[in-house]
Amino acid sequence: MCGIVGYVGHRRALDVVVEALRRMEYRGYDSAGIAILDGQGGLAVERKAGRLSNLEAELDEIGEEHFTGTAGMGHTRWATHGRPTDRNAHPHRDASGKVAVVHNGIIENFAPLREELEKSGVELASDTDTEVAVHLVARAYEEGPTAGNFVDSARSVLRRLEGAFTLVFAHADHPGTIVAARRSTPLVVGVGDGEMFIASDVAAFIEFTREAVELGQDQVVVITEDSYTVTDFDGNSEVDTRPFTIDWDLAAAEKGGHDYFMLKEIEEQPAAVADTLRGHFVDGRIVLDEQRLSDQELRDIDKVFVVACGSSYHSGLVAKYAIEHWTRLPVEVELASEFRYRDPVLDRSTLVVAISQSGETADTLEAVRHAKDQKARVLAVCNTNGAQIPREADAVLYTRTGPEIGVASTKAFLAQMAANYLVGLALAQARGTKYPDEVAREYQDLAAMPEKIAELLTGMDPVRALARELSDSPAVLFLGRHVGYPVALEGALKLKELAYMHAEGFAAGELKHGPIALIEDGLPVIVVMPSPKGRAVLHSKLLSNIREIQARGAVTVVIAEEGDETVRPFADHLFEIPSAPSLLQPLLSTVPLQVFAAEVAQSRGYDVDKPRNLAKSVTVE
Ligand code: G6P
Repeated sequence: MCGIVGYVGHRRALDVVVEALRRMEYRGYDSAGIAILDGQGGLAVERKAGRLSNLEAELDEIGEEHFTGTAGMGHTRWATHGRPTDRNAHPHRDASGKVAVVHNGIIENFAPLREELEKSGVELASDTDTEVAVHLVARAYEEGPTAGNFVDSARSVLRRLEGAFTLVFAHADHPGTIVAARRSTPLVVGVGDGEMFIASDVAAFIEFTREAVELGQDQVVVITEDSYTVTDFDGNSEVDTRPFTIDWDLAAAEKGGHDYFMLKEIEEQPAAVADTLRGHFVDGRIVLDEQRLSDQELRDIDKVFVVACGSSYHSGLVAKYAIEHWTRLPVEVELASEFRYRDPVLDRSTLVVAISQSGETADTLEAVRHAKDQKARVLAVCNTNGAQIPREADAVLYTRTGPEIGVASTKAFLAQMAANYLVGLALAQARGTKYPDEVAREYQDLAAMPEKIAELLTGMDPVRALARELSDSPAVLFLGRHVGYPVALEGALKLKELAYMHAEGFAAGELKHGPIALIEDGLPVIVVMPSPKGRAVLHSKLLSNIREIQARGAVTVVIAEEGDETVRPFADHLFEIPSAPSLLQPLLSTVPLQVFAAEVAQSRGYDVDKPRNLAKSVTVE
């Protein structure tokens, strides 16, 4: 998500902040901005939509002399609330222009806070959730028990905020102090000699210091040039922090210590799913991000098409099972490139769900336009705020993974599945096919998934070891059933994309209709097992399939729920995943397949971030 930096020291803050933003541009590049404290009661702010280079050009034009001072902060944005425009770019300021804020995350209760401010006569200048924070701090500094105390004013506001956030505040009258806080989003302190840094990522300050401090949940840090003080939101200083020395070089630091962005993105999946779910279950109801469809229009829907390409299409295949189960609506999932050339039957009671990480894929965009021409309603699931597909859609649900740099989709894929489940629940809620308490229960199950994904990720070493062992195989087959079938397709796609290895995914029930002819001695077959409890019948059928392929010499690699002992005798290699409701299992079973593909690719000496011939956004047909 967004990248943030704060600095107090002896260098020119402008140089430190802009360089830090360059290092963190991978976190977001919808817009960038800086605020520099001149030390004389002035606060110079500049912000610009688009890449950091736009801001730099603007700074050149204005002249660097307008940005003197040795303290400041900066932000590179990945838009969540409000389009990526100049006015929504951070930093945001209060009416006096003396207080500034930058933010990463989502302030979930911004709407009532905004209303409260507007009622008291404050005019808000942006569409962001962030801006409320700066006005509240300015007000707390002007009046009431914290008047005149910048740090206490900030703390008093932090206590009122809900959601996930890293916030950094600066006050023109306190030029030697920067206040920052975190809840559920990253913030590290860089401890220098006569200078202090705070940032989303150590990459921001690694050039200046390798001494860092990781902050805990709900902590506030106040930096001056020679001190950092950490407390909780109430000001208590008995809090846990973790000092550490950074032993990565700069290139590794940008990738969080990994060799490739994609490996980092795989690790980020628990956060990607949690961030995507966050803020969408409010007062017992599922809410979308942009809703230009009335509940009545949602109730009138009698058929759903899901259109997408690549991994996004596979996430749509998973969605079919959940949406049909929860809503009793028929769902067809279609490759966007096929959809509009076959004259699909669409009308105003059809909902087309368009899934696209980039929001730009040409085939998906054209499918959306075709659907709209036929008067169908369009709901976009997208990772890029303000991209063309969400702009043209009637409703939008954003996946909130931050930028995905690796060409092959990983965290965006998991986040899409999470968003699609929310779409299914939103439809079930609007149509009344699920009672509110059932929707709430399904949502709670979903909300428990990030922790399970995190747990699963800690046990991936055996998967990597097997990947290295099998990296010379001429081919790998993948089998799955029910929601495990799209997972098998995605596992095969990952292996093709990254390792250039022949890989095919099959519906296990089709085994005897052809694929079994491919089985020969030593061929690895990866089988995604359904839950023995949730899908007992399918489980026993897949068990028979495993026996059949093992009898013909296949090396069986089985992904199964923990405690599934029945499968053990037939698995040459068994990888366990935490137990979860059947429909949600793909959020787990996909993960070892991603790790497997990435490790095979690396063993074969390939760049997993930039696989040959592939592009991240396919903007031509
Ligand atoms: C390309 C990417 C895939 C992605 C697909 C669809 O092929 O390499 O990772 O799944 O496009 O992209 P979209 O941005 O529409 O999700």
